[in-house]
Amino acid sequence: MKQDAFPPISANNSGGPTSSARTMVFLTAATAALGGLLFGYDTSVISGAMLFLRTDFHLSDVQLEFAVGIALGGALVGSGLAGYCADRWGRRATLLGTGVGFGVFAAVSGLATGLVMFSIARFFVGACIGVASLVTPLYLAEMAPARIRGALVSLNQLAITVGICVAYFVDYELAAEQNWRWMFISAVLPAVVLILGMLFLPESPRWLARAGYRDRALAGFRRLGRGEEAEAELQDVERVLAEKQEGFWILLQPGFRVAALVGIGLAVFQQITGINTIIYYSPEILRMSGYPSAKAAILAAGIIGVVNVLITVVSILLVDRLGRRFLLLVGTAGMAAALTIVGIAFYRHTTGSAVFYAVVAYIVFFGVGLGPVVWLLISEIYPIKIRGQAMSLAILTVWGTNWLVAGTFLSVIHGVGPAVTFWIFGVLCVMAFVFCLVFVPETKGKSLEDIERHWIQFSANRK
Ligand code: BGC
Repeated sequence: MKQDAFPPISANNSGGPTSSARTMVFLTAATAALGGLLFGYDTSVISGAMLFLRTDFHLSDVQLEFAVGIALGGALVGSGLAGYCADRWGRRATLLGTGVGFGVFAAVSGLATGLVMFSIARFFVGACIGVASLVTPLYLAEMAPARIRGALVSLNQLAITVGICVAYFVDYELAAEQNWRWMFISAVLPAVVLILGMLFLPESPRWLARAGYRDRALAGFRRLGRGEEAEAELQDVERVLAEKQEGFWILLQPGFRVAALVGIGLAVFQQITGINTIIYYSPEILRMSGYPSAKAAILAAGIIGVVNVLITVVSILLVDRLGRRFLLLVGTAGMAAALTIVGIAFYRHTTGSAVFYAVVAYIVFFGVGLGPVVWLLISEIYPIKIRGQAMSLAILTVWGTNWLVAGTFLSVIHGVGPAVTFWIFGVLCVMAFVFCLVFVPETKGKSLEDIERHWIQFSANRK
């Protein structure tokens, strides 16, 4: 594959980005990443509100489960539609609309007067989560220079983990006064910042090129610091666009078929290896392992959340140096080892702290690999003409598998016990390792167009 054409960031006199252009790139990335923050916050905030909702709305178990799970249903619908919207109306407009949705429905869920109103609002919040989970990494990948694309797209994952953490602490603070309404309404603030930001940020130059707005695409690349390289980068995008391939069915060609398989496989493995059993249920898991009080378990869960944020920063620093494959392989291998230890600790009835340390190790390895890198690869590997729709397929899989695992976890634990449950997740991590080793290509430092040509070449070689 061709080397990427970006000059070192310091080479201003040779057409590289000026410091104001560099600021623009990071500002754009940070603002768009608010989509990830809202994703993390809005999926997690419900856990702290649950008990109060039950009393205020007089909910039965089934009604409570429905109120909690409805956002995941919304996310499934949202991620299914997001690709179409992003391809049709553009990445920026879709993200802007999502920001409005997040703000409005966060407020409505906080002001809800009963179960029906609350559930409708949470369904739409979920739909926004689904849309944001697609458009945020997509937008970041398309505007980022190849050399630092891994880090910029992974800001999305960083924002997700920060959102989860903030939700946890907001819940903790507001729980004392049983103020569940503000738990939801607080999300209006980042939504407003996202809206304001998106009003000023540029559309993805790659989408503009595809939609035929050449001048705006060129100006967009320039605004994003490409300097003299802007024209060359645009021409490269145009070359790929000029390929005859059209329509969603190009995913069935040999090369793109592998890309589809890689995206869907990564989506399944990110979820089926159990991350959200830890994110959603860690206090329960720690209690089961013998933690003395609910309070201690909740605090330990908070520490796990903070570790998740910190390790994502480490991954961001490494992903463009060590590559996607390396992080995935180390990550899945480490997760398998950590889960084996969690299983052994439960099997031997060791005290809670053994489980806690092993769970922290598991989070560290997830946060280095499968967490950020899956979103990154899903946003990199698809051809430009159908990038949004192909991502929809993969991200629908993320949400579908998330729903399956989170929805069955407690029954599985009650059925086969915690030791076997975590060993099953461990075996799935080993399968994820093999999958990454065999199928996942290295995309570090390559332009999105080079990645696309790689698949086209792959198809041609098969003919
Ligand atoms: C996953 C989420 C998970 C989060 C935890 C994300 O990459 O998609 O399901 O809750 O990481 O950090």
